[in-house]
Amino acid sequence: MLPDIRTPLPGPKSRALAARLRSVEGANVTFLPQDESFPIFWESGNGCLITDVDGNQLLDMTSAFGVSALGHGATAATQAIAKQSNLLLHGMGDVHPTVAKLELCEELCRTSGLPAAKVILGTSGGDAVEAAIKSAILRTGKHRVVAFDGGYHGLNLGALNATARHDFRMPFHRHLADFVTHFPYGSPLENLPDDTAAVLVEVIQGRGGVREASTDWLMHLRSLCDAAGALLIVDEVFTGFWRTGEVFAHRHHGVTPDIIACGKVLGGGMPISACVGTGDAMSGWPVSTGESIHTSTFLGHPGGCASAVATLRSLSDMDASATVNRLGAYLRSHLDLIARKHTRKVTSIRGKGLMLGIQMDAHGAAVTLSDALLQNGIITLPAGNGDVLELTPPFVVTEHQLDFVAGAIDQALTL
Ligand SMILES: Cc1ncc(COP(=O)(O)O)c(C=O)c1O
Repeated sequence: MLPDIRTPLPGPKSRALAARLRSVEGANVTFLPQDESFPIFWESGNGCLITDVDGNQLLDMTSAFGVSALGHGATAATQAIAKQSNLLLHGMGDVHPTVAKLELCEELCRTSGLPAAKVILGTSGGDAVEAAIKSAILRTGKHRVVAFDGGYHGLNLGALNATARHDFRMPFHRHLADFVTHFPYGSPLENLPDDTAAVLVEVIQGRGGVREASTDWLMHLRSLCDAAGALLIVDEVFTGFWRTGEVFAHRHHGVTPDIIACGKVLGGGMPISACVGTGDAMSGWPVSTGESIHTSTFLGHPGGCASAVATLRSLSDMDASATVNRLGAYLRSHLDLIARKHTRKVTSIRGKGLMLGIQMDAHGAAVTLSDALLQNGIITLPAGNGDVLELTPPFVVTEHQLDFVAGAIDQALTL
């Protein structure tokens, strides 16, 4: 099914709702320009298609921030949530657990492949990163974290220390501690700074512009960590759960991390994330004596856990790896042709599986392209410095839909 646009975008209902939202939501949250050119209010979803409040159907090439791998409205998640919510929607995650939490932890340990793995659940990617950093601090007794330029690890005040975007950090710079040292992404380091507890790295930087780490560099980070007694944390919040064609992106490189931070795809649309580490990496945590030093009200949320378990099982049943590799190669071949045709505007195509980026020649060029695609009913996101168009569609996208998207990109670049 392809986009079906019946009104100017945004339509009249979206515009009216945006005016209402402007009067009640914090000013920095939703982009609500005075010319009303944005946003589109979503009403429902089915597979890759989103129906907006004006009855337009749009093609989601983002999986809504890389989450909805099985497509919008996927029954694995909705049925699991319905079943769990009839039993118990909310529980007491770190006090009286549910079977759903146990099953998710078991599933994550198995999927991670890490020896004697242990899990700490959270509700956002930033939570997972913070739990990973805390685990490394406790295990090593050291305090420094090495992270990389262009890295995005979340905006919670803890995770923001590691996120390298100046615009996100600047308003809060006085509240950021100096325990994170940033180095250029992909460049070899002579050694790790003294007192390094962890190296935190994205195998492919998503929001940073679909920038890929090389196997050599990841191996180099692994050996630096080993030499310094630091832990290697891979932030797989975006890349995890087959987004790149492997269950985790580090598997493409044969590098074994100590800790994996993950989220997004995991919950099947429910806000749930996890820090999964080797038994050794997670061994710094004191055994709970009744009061956990790292928890939250919604930790191990039963509905979220049930949705996550069903999503992971469904992805594994559908052979997500084969599906993503096949569709990713198909989209990639379209994008490579586009790059060859529009050499002045497109400088490279990057990424793996269904996490692909079109590197444009100028800052902001991907924003312009994304806006043009939206007018054709295609939802995309710019990344990097607005110079990379990121394509991370649901794994249920069809070749026909990818043909349509490629055609629209080609046409927009031709204008
Ligand atoms: C690699 C990576 N880490 C962490 C995060 C933060 O996740 P959340 O927005 O769920 O806190 C993101 C979000 O895009 C991400 O891409």
